[in-house]
Amino acid sequence: MILVTGGAGFIGANFVLDWLKQYDEPVINYDKLTYAGNLNNLKDLQQDARHVFVQGDINDGATLSALLDKYQPRAILHFAAESHVDRSILGPAAFVTTNINGTFSLLEATRAYWQNLAEPEKAAFRFLHVSTDEVYGTLSAEDPPFSETTAYAPNSPYSASKAASDHLVRAYHHTYGLPTLTTNCSNNYGAYHFPEKLIPLIITNARAGKDLPVYGDGQQVRDWLYVTDHCAAIRRVLADGRLGETYNVGGWNEQSNLSVVHTLCDLLDQLQPKATGSYRDQIKHVKDRPGHDRRYAIDARKIEKELGWKPAETFETGLRKTVEWYLANDEWVNQVQSGEYLKWVDLQYKNGAEVVA
Ligand code: NAD
Ligand code: TYD
Repeated sequence: MILVTGGAGFIGANFVLDWLKQYDEPVINYDKLTYAGNLNNLKDLQQDARHVFVQGDINDGATLSALLDKYQPRAILHFAAESHVDRSILGPAAFVTTNINGTFSLLEATRAYWQNLAEPEKAAFRFLHVSTDEVYGTLSAEDPPFSETTAYAPNSPYSASKAASDHLVRAYHHTYGLPTLTTNCSNNYGAYHFPEKLIPLIITNARAGKDLPVYGDGQQVRDWLYVTDHCAAIRRVLADGRLGETYNVGGWNEQSNLSVVHTLCDLLDQLQPKATGSYRDQIKHVKDRPGHDRRYAIDARKIEKELGWKPAETFETGLRKTVEWYLANDEWVNQVQSGEYLKWVDLQYKNGAEVVA
């Protein structure tokens, strides 16, 4: 079996659901269930004996060790993290605790488990660390996209904490021989995306008749990838990635934020038209994020050449599927938008990012 951390979050849940659609190999899903973790993402697996959910913190080394001894996984896929840049600006401590200390504690438990495995299991074992392109910092319009040899230059507490975790994983391979793999992926979008992030925030705010907040001039560029394409890339790296290597994963799909917001409004105008006017009328430019990275772009040639991975979805097909998913899943949206979510929206959009234009 495999052990996944953070499998109740956006990408982790998509990964677990896709995995069990394709394979019969069971999954141990270890997740703390922070505000971003949601068992409703895994509802389809309620009666599925191949999915074992365990609520726990990656900082709890004793529980991790007991789980590893009990289930003897052949691989660990590490998704668990604090993942939202804006939250890392308002409260960086949780990012250090989970992304750095938590990854360290998981690596320590993994090292102790792996060192005691019998030779064939030890050789076959894999630790796959799921990371982000944000560790490379920001690009100007003329710069080439991030490659695996681009120097790390993280700019936010989120990206700095992910960079630190990448370095720890690298060190565990070089120092202890732990069979690690790292993926650095660009911005994901798709089903089960928590509506604090741009794409689901715009869809849910638009439908609720609320403002669509665009930070600054909206000309910041991200390289968007449909989440199931990211999951497929992780499966390819797990199967055939070279030990100790990192693989950049991206959609070859650079879009400015404003263009993403316009496309979403146009899709909603088609799929669920307003009584009068366009959803574009709700767009509001608000105060920019401090230290906002201008452009991310991924050079994904290594994973394509070595492992034959390419995205299956275009931005057009992926974004349409995403909007359709949100339109069909009001119950999920209503559930995640209660409680903690409301407190966040209040803090970030009423005090932190007042309207500037
Ligand atoms: P998410 O915030 O939606 O989910 C994170 C999950 O981790 C949640 O289920 C949460 O409960 C769990 N978690 C948090 N702290 C934990 C802890 N201390 N112990 C155990 N579980 C804990 O994040 P996501 O968007 O699904 O991202 C998953 C991974 O992919 C992260 O490592 C992130 O850095 C990386 N990544 C994300 C993107 C993106 O666009 N979302 C892009 C590239 C890489
Ligand atoms: P986000 O989804 O938070 O991902 P990241 O910061 O990890 O790239 O944001 C994507 C882009 O959208 C980023 O440039 C910030 C911008 N953004 C807005 O303009 N308005 C918003 O309300 C949010 C949440 C993000």
